[in-house]
Amino acid sequence: MAEPDRFPPATPAGGQTKADRWRRQREREDRAARWAAVCFLVAIVAALSLFAVYVSGGQVQLEGLALFVAFAGVGLGIAIWVRVIVGHEEVIEERYPMRSDDAEREAFEELYEATLGEAGVGGRRRFLVRLLTGAGASLGLALLIPIRSLGPGPENDLFRTEWDAGARVVDAEGEPLRAEDISPDQVVTVFPEGATGSADSQAILVGLRTDVETDLRQPTVDGIVVYSKICTHAGCPVGLYRAAVGELLCPCHQSTFGVYNGAVVLSGPAGRPLPQLPIALDDDGYLVALGDFVEPVGPSFWNMTRGGGS
Ligand code: FES
Repeated sequence: MAEPDRFPPATPAGGQTKADRWRRQREREDRAARWAAVCFLVAIVAALSLFAVYVSGGQVQLEGLALFVAFAGVGLGIAIWVRVIVGHEEVIEERYPMRSDDAEREAFEELYEATLGEAGVGGRRRFLVRLLTGAGASLGLALLIPIRSLGPGPENDLFRTEWDAGARVVDAEGEPLRAEDISPDQVVTVFPEGATGSADSQAILVGLRTDVETDLRQPTVDGIVVYSKICTHAGCPVGLYRAAVGELLCPCHQSTFGVYNGAVVLSGPAGRPLPQLPIALDDDGYLVALGDFVEPVGPSFWNMTRGGGS
């Protein structure tokens, strides 16, 4: 039966049939798939190289280059895949009668068989997905590097200082101090005996006036109080004492702490009082600690209420 005039010619004027177009499209996709695969392979090699360079001692420039190549490989591979293989054009084709001529049907069957074969056994798509997964896993391995760089945990160090029960209170020269050596409004930087200069154990001893009421949180000796010298904001040494108002001042960001009120924060960015050292007198009249600070010294950290045991 003759085809109606409105049907398109079996072979268009340009000499290009649907089968030709399919074939060319197919070749284009194959080429793109090969390039995408190369990109993913390069990304895998680069990510593994990054890991190897880091583990064998590290070299910042090489690590940076490897990271760049790994990310570029993954990005480029995905871009090729999305733009060429998946395609991004919206195509509208005029609808002709559905039946193709015999040559087109034959060509289509050939292509269909080939495509079906690929889809069934490790096809192009599956191959690319595997490579992309491999590149992602390799990059994930490289992302473990920062975790390894964190080094060992601080364990209990953040909760302990050198202060211990019975440790004498000494000045910066290591001289033990008696209560009678301290006069009102006097300020002395002190350490536990045997640990002079210890950064986290440094404390500030203040002579108290007897005519001012106190509200302290730890046992102490009459007329004397000892606080950690490390600011609870960012760790600067709290070294300035305004005797007239009984305030310790941190020079870094101007936090002030009330000496007569358990070093509560009176102003500034510090978030908690300076820890107070519990002290007493030993049999010879020397100032001694009754134990360590009951809370961590210095800036706060996320789990500071959890630890403390030795
Ligand atoms: S470190 Fe003391 S106020 Fe900031």
